[in-house]
This record gives sequence, structure tokens and C-alpha cells, in this order.
Amino acid sequence: MTLSINPFIAAIPTNPLRALFPYGARPGMLNLASGHPSKDAYDLDGLAEAASRASRDFSAWTYGPSAGDPALITALTEAVAMVPPGKRLLVTSGAQQGIDLATRTFAPPGANVLVPEPVYPAVLSTCAAIGVTPVGYQIAPGDDDLADFAAKLKTAGDVRAIYALPTFGNPTGETLTRAQRLRLLALCAEHDVPVIEDAPYSDLWFRAPPPPSLLDLASQVDGATVIYLGSLSKIMSPGLRIGWLIAPESVAAAMQEARQASDLQPNALAQRVAWHYLQSGRLDGHIARVRSLYAERHDALVAVLTKAGFTVPAVEGGMFIFPFLPKDKGNSDLFDRAVAQNVLFAPGPAFRAVAESGLFADRMRLCFAGLGKADIVVAAERLVAAVHA
Ligand SMILES: Cc1ncc(COP(=O)(O)O)c(C=O)c1O
Repeated sequence: MTLSINPFIAAIPTNPLRALFPYGARPGMLNLASGHPSKDAYDLDGLAEAASRASRDFSAWTYGPSAGDPALITALTEAVAMVPPGKRLLVTSGAQQGIDLATRTFAPPGANVLVPEPVYPAVLSTCAAIGVTPVGYQIAPGDDDLADFAAKLKTAGDVRAIYALPTFGNPTGETLTRAQRLRLLALCAEHDVPVIEDAPYSDLWFRAPPPPSLLDLASQVDGATVIYLGSLSKIMSPGLRIGWLIAPESVAAAMQEARQASDLQPNALAQRVAWHYLQSGRLDGHIARVRSLYAERHDALVAVLTKAGFTVPAVEGGMFIFPFLPKDKGNSDLFDRAVAQNVLFAPGPAFRAVAESGLFADRMRLCFAGLGKADIVVAAERLVAAVHA
């Protein structure tokens, strides 16, 4: 029997970051490629305590509401999620499920979705699985006009949603200013297109909080609609697979039906673990510790790279930088030379929204969350050695 795979599913691109996992597992490899925080960036004692308590709750072991455990919804709303009037919060299986649900809810197969260029590659997998076409837009630091974004909105044709990652982006680490956010919302309102605001890194600021979210600012822009995606992955544990989305009531109801079609409800045990952890009162202290840990690692990494001729656009939080290589050093065998030096980076082209664009050959994404300060300096020095070899 010949099995015929749905062409949309067959066309899902291999996630270039997951393809790096085997290199990361090599003995002695210092991994700056993967967005995986080091073990000491977790509150493992607090999580173990929460898991132990959760395991004794009967509700951890049975079916529950599709929208999520009501106690967790309340706790999230009190701790990390601001729900404006007229909006509803649904618990999701991480922000990734939110990306899928929101895209699916607005964009039928054949439609277009605008995505940042460079882009977080899993967004492309979602688009491919749904059969929608990602169209890249660029917003450079200092670009208050958003000319490219405005042009794409006008010319792309049948744009049904905008995916935006305005705070401590992946891969760039960059953050849109308040003025850029307001301009983006105004353009989307003018074209009557909803914005999917992916915000898993928002709490990871180094020295000062970022500008208000698009969701917060939407109340100042007539006709703007924002679907906000949050996550416990970067502030508690990605293994729990707990995130949330905030959407207008009518849209949230449709999304709830869509999520039932795929997995009925969020994982009950994980929700109880998250709830107990939030009840423990440890989250704020943990986030504060992670912020200073990442700030210190970021500074150490940037210091070595800058000295060696890299150009590193400024970032003020999150887990990534997306530096430019020293002049004339971007060439195709750099990845192999780095692997030979036992250091791993994520090549810039892995973040192209449009494969043929030829963009980002002179850049690389580096994650500063995964290694302690001493190791990060060694990793950066190995990278510099590979670049100059
Ligand atoms: C920009 C972005 N969105 C979403 C996700 C997925 O997050 P979650 O673990 O909450 O599904 C990630 C994970 O790295 C990410 O970088």
C-alpha cells in the first residue's frame, strides 16, 4: 500500500535548530547554539516540591476543562498574566501551541501570514503544517516608520495575521520601542489584521523592564486586535509545557474548540505542578536570580566577541544575541571549524523566513543562558579562534 502524506505535512521544513542537537551532545562541546538554560538556571528544589504536592491531587490524574485548570488560570492571572476586560485566558501547551492555534484560527490554507525576518524557525513549521505562506518583514532598530512592514501589509495579498515577537526576540534579542509598537498596531488596525504577540521572554529583562506589551498598548489604538502568547517555559520549566494565550472572548471560544480537536485539554499533572509552584511564592525570587545570571553571562560573552571584531547589536534581556561576524569572515565552513574547536553556534541562515533570501550569512545566533560565566568565556574564545583560523 502506498501511503500518501498530506502535502502540507510533507512540506514541513526540518527545524534547523533541532538538527543541531546531536552536535550539542558530543563530549566536551560548549553549546552556544541551543536555547536551553543550564541546570543552575532552574529552581529544581522548588519544582520537586511542587511536583510532589501535585502528585497527591486527584485532579492531576483525571480529565479537566479544555480552557485549563481554573485554579491555575486564577494563579497565572495574579502572578504573570494581565487579562484586559473582554479578553479570556486559555492555558496552552507552551507558547508553541498558541502560535499554532492563533495562526490556524485566522489563516486558512493558501493565505499569507507576516513574520519577522529573521524568524524563530518553529513559526515556519506551523505555517507549513497549516498551508499558509510566511512573508518576511524587517524592522531595524531606529526604524519608527516601519516602512517595510507597511509595504508588506499592502503588497503581500490576503494577509490574515501578523506574527510578532516584539520583546527580546529570537534570534535577535532585540526589542521594539513603544513608538514602534504603536505604529505596528496602528498599521494592523488600518488593514484589519490581528497581531499574534509571542512573548515568552518578556520577564527576562536585565536592568529595566521592556516597554508595555502590544496587548497593553492595543487599548490605545482603535481597531487593534492582539492575541497574546505567554509561557512558563523560560521562567519556570520548558518541560512542563505550560503556556497561555489571551484573546478576545469570541476568538478564545473558537480557539478552545480548535485545541480540543487536537489534544482535548492541557496536561493536568503539569498544570497542578505549575499551580503548586506559583502557590509556593518562589517564582519572583527565581526570576530575579535568572535575570542577573543571564545579564552576567551576556556581558561576559559580548565582551569577548566585541574585542575580537564582532559587531553585537545591543540587547537588554532574553537569552540570545545575533552578532555580525568580523568583516569578511562569514564563510561556509565556519560551522565545521567551530565544531572542531568544540563550540557550537546556530548559523544565521537558519533564521531566514524565506529560504532563498540569502540573508544572514554574516550572522550567528548565540544563546547565553546555557553556560556558566567561566564556560561562556571559554566558548567565546573558541569561537573567535574558529573565526580567525
Ligand atoms: C520565540 C519563541 N516562541 C515560542 C517558543 C516556544 O515556547 P514554549 O516552550 O512555551 O512552547 C520559543 C521557544 O524557544 C521561542 O523562542
